[in-house]
Amino acid sequence: MTRVGIIGCGYISRLHYEGYERAGAKIVHVCDIRKEAAEAVGSRYSARVSTDYRAVIEDRDVDLVSVCTIASTHKEICLAALACGKGVVCEKTLTDNAADSAELVLASRRTKAFLSVAYMKNYFPAVVQAKQMLAEMGDVTSIYVRTWHFHPQLWQSPAPEDVLQHPSRIVRNYGGGMLVCGGSHVLNLLCGFAGRPTKVIGAMQSRPGMDFDIQTNAMLWLPAGGVAHFEAFWHPFAAIGYERNGWDERIEINTAKGRLELYTVLWNGSENHGALLVHTDADTGRVTEYRFPAVNVFDLEMAGMIEAFETGGLATPSAADGYVVDELIEQITSSHRQGGKGLPVTYRVQ
Ligand SMILES: NC(=O)c1ccc[n+]([C@@H]2O[C@H](COP(=O)([O-])OP(=O)(O)OC[C@H]3O[C@@H](n4cnc5c(N)ncnc54)[C@H](O)[C@@H]3O)[C@@H](O)[C@H]2O)c1
Repeated sequence: MTRVGIIGCGYISRLHYEGYERAGAKIVHVCDIRKEAAEAVGSRYSARVSTDYRAVIEDRDVDLVSVCTIASTHKEICLAALACGKGVVCEKTLTDNAADSAELVLASRRTKAFLSVAYMKNYFPAVVQAKQMLAEMGDVTSIYVRTWHFHPQLWQSPAPEDVLQHPSRIVRNYGGGMLVCGGSHVLNLLCGFAGRPTKVIGAMQSRPGMDFDIQTNAMLWLPAGGVAHFEAFWHPFAAIGYERNGWDERIEINTAKGRLELYTVLWNGSENHGALLVHTDADTGRVTEYRFPAVNVFDLEMAGMIEAFETGGLATPSAADGYVVDELIEQITSSHRQGGKGLPVTYRVQ
């Protein structure tokens, strides 16, 4: 049985420890710089409680750690955990910049350690099936990737104080705005469907007084020659999207053989509705809808992590997958700052 340490006991950590518990792993050590947060989780599992992450990574009873702290701390904690021989599941984004993420990839390769980055959407059955179908559909010629999240507070007048502080709570915790928070997930899916983009153009929008983007658009040139259109947006519309709950995320993938359309469901409520995948065959025009049961995608993710860790399987998504997203975020941001200049993307690690 895998013995797990949780580092960072804030919002996302619950989705990790409950997922591990349901996958049959044991939570043995938990940590947060806020002692009360760590104690609340520790008492639930009769686990050891610490306020310094080093106590967890040096604990001989811990096999695998989940790093659920804010992005600016990921590099230091992951490097230290790998050096102690622990397997690591790191919350997205892998770090808050491409150079640090590349360094982490190299460290995991050097130590041959398990290092995965928790882009949980890869575990949606609809995403798994889309990848299987795409393998038979030839090169991707075009993709539309859209992730719109309902965030009414950002449209209040005046905006909440923590949003107008510099750095804002959003930048402090996540290292960026909508591109980093929501866009990272669909950039990861885009690369999984179509490979690593070779060139990008980015345009970012903010609102008065805010130090982060609420909307980012990008064009990304695909390795097979097609182009992806990308949009991430914190919007004020309560009832739009596939579930009519403000969650409006969909991906359309085109090849010479047909089209796939993917409608995902609310990230932290995926147990309420199933995702939808629609296939159109280019030759016959036949349209097939694949409807999937509602699942807790974090449970599937943690079960997948435990299985891969225990069997010596591939960390999925890999640290390199996480690095690629951080590189794209950096290049899209850089393109925007240069007035929308097209920038070739050179990857620091393969
Ligand atoms: N997969 C997703 O869809 C998703 C959604 C939300 C957040 N996240 C990611 O999860 C991570 C955490 O986000 P959150 O929303 O849970 O934030 P949070 O602020 O709720 O929790 C972070 C916790 O880490 C603790 N912490 C900070 N530095 C620490 C350190 N050095 N050692 C120990 N504990 C430390 C904080 O005290 C806090 O309790 C971020 O990387 C974020 O991008 C992912």
